[in-house]
Amino acid sequence: MNILGLSFYYHDSSAALVSDGVLVAAAAEERFSRVKHDSGLPHLAIEFVLRQSGLSMDDVDHVVFYEKPFIKFERMLLTAMATFPRSSAVFRESMQRWITDKLWVKSHLLRELGVPAAKLLFADHHVSHAASSFFTSPFEESAILTVDGAGEWSTATMGIGRGNQLEITQELRFPHSLGLLYSAFTAYCGFEINEGEYKLMGMHPYGEPKYTDKIYELIEVAEDGSLWHDMRYFAYHRSRDTTLSPAFAKHFGRPARDPKLEDKSLDPYYCDMAASIQRVTEEVLQKMLTQLHAQTGSKNLCLAGGVALNSVANFKLLRDGPFDDVYIHPAPGDDGGAVGAAYWAYNHLLGQPRGPALDHAYLGSSYSDDEIEAFLTKNEIAFEKYEVDEELYDFVARSLQEGKVCGWFHGRFEWGPRALGSRSIIADPRKPEMKELLNEKIKFREAFRPFAPSVLEERADEFFEFPDASRHLPARFMLYVCPVREDKRSVLPAITHEDGSGRLQTVHKETCPAYHRVIERFGELTGVPVIMNTSFNLKGEPIVEDPSHAFNTFSLSGMDLLILGNYVVRAEAKKQIADTRFSLRHQGDSVTEMVS
Ligand SMILES: [Fe+2]
Repeated sequence: MNILGLSFYYHDSSAALVSDGVLVAAAAEERFSRVKHDSGLPHLAIEFVLRQSGLSMDDVDHVVFYEKPFIKFERMLLTAMATFPRSSAVFRESMQRWITDKLWVKSHLLRELGVPAAKLLFADHHVSHAASSFFTSPFEESAILTVDGAGEWSTATMGIGRGNQLEITQELRFPHSLGLLYSAFTAYCGFEINEGEYKLMGMHPYGEPKYTDKIYELIEVAEDGSLWHDMRYFAYHRSRDTTLSPAFAKHFGRPARDPKLEDKSLDPYYCDMAASIQRVTEEVLQKMLTQLHAQTGSKNLCLAGGVALNSVANFKLLRDGPFDDVYIHPAPGDDGGAVGAAYWAYNHLLGQPRGPALDHAYLGSSYSDDEIEAFLTKNEIAFEKYEVDEELYDFVARSLQEGKVCGWFHGRFEWGPRALGSRSIIADPRKPEMKELLNEKIKFREAFRPFAPSVLEERADEFFEFPDASRHLPARFMLYVCPVREDKRSVLPAITHEDGSGRLQTVHKETCPAYHRVIERFGELTGVPVIMNTSFNLKGEPIVEDPSHAFNTFSLSGMDLLILGNYVVRAEAKKQIADTRFSLRHQGDSVTEMVS
């Protein structure tokens, strides 16, 4: 049985294909369309997941959308009415978008993909989140917590999964939302909402949580972790342009940080604010988990929703929380809703047996050596080919040791927002200058932004204070920030954050053999089986998908080497070329034709 899960019309549109309970392909549209956070109908991602599975739309038994548009519309409508006339501008704009687009998901799918109405299903937004985590987890039974900005009405839910069934027992409803609270501080600290939450998290180690009491004056938190916001301080329920009401800045006695400042300064006040909202987020989550644990008695936890991307909080919840084991899907945000919607239908609705746990995120497209060589030859790019894999890995490891920065493009790309060794820029973490070099000359982004270490799973304990790191699946997806061992901080200066922590990725031989071997070889040469890993993109761009994106990104940045499969391109070959996928699409390779 083939189920196509879809999420779109908000942000990070995605498609996922579950075949007989196995997640065979999943991708965000932005990888193919090259539009960051693309929210449109994911034509290209759908085309990809079908092609990857060798299927046509006729072979798909059900198409499942990740939320219920009419219920979300009801929320928008009732919220706008409750805050009228202040909401009149947002009301007009929202109506326009909803009436022209969002309400008509069903007819768009029927018309544009040719999906018969009988095959279409709609899941609930938070059920999709819950399902994405539980049904891909290794747990037969688990408590489930979902926390995000907002779905239809829910902003957080608690529930339990047993076998192929899922039950949501409690919900927190809009406008009271831990995700929206965090986003309010993202905006207050001068970052873009839905994009800058990582930056806020990355900034928090530079500050002290001095303002938690002031934050608690904006909200009430019950013992069970449920929230009530004093809406006099917020504007997201009645405005499209601003999240904060004037009372917010007045309450803190300072205006919001100018978004144009970007990385120009690390004002200690806003760093303290970042540390404070991080602390409050962790405390609220901890209360939710205590309640959920008492209620379910489960020793396992599945986390989902955008807030589960807070890898600093995730580790503290794992370490200090009441649950023995935690699973988080590699795409816990709304992109992951596509996977959740598909599994909800397959397992919960249709009663099919559970598939295997997801132990890797390599669910995207890949390019064969022949395709890569054809691309290089066609574009007259000089290259060297390594016929023997081991010689390539040795060359890459030695290049890193010499201080070279490499673009590493290998195998199927990663599902979710993190680069995990398929579309990564890699460097030597022992060199303190690498952090600045990568931020300024390669990624062109804020100087304080941290980098992540990829470590051999079998040696993670030597470098990180994370007992049995290798047994925790979310560590493979870079979803935990844990302390770097004190005696290793000076060994790994480029990936150790201000507070001595690091966002590790454990690399397993069986799921990521080439990347594992590069790190292993680097370890043989240097004694340190850890490399620095950041996503293969420039600031503000989606991560590269095909060799042309990789080559252009390489050419525009200060990288020294580009490794495309078994091919090496040196810096002397840099130039700009046309985007091959883009040109392919314009040669009549119509998506609609391919999937209908
Ligand atoms: Fe969500």
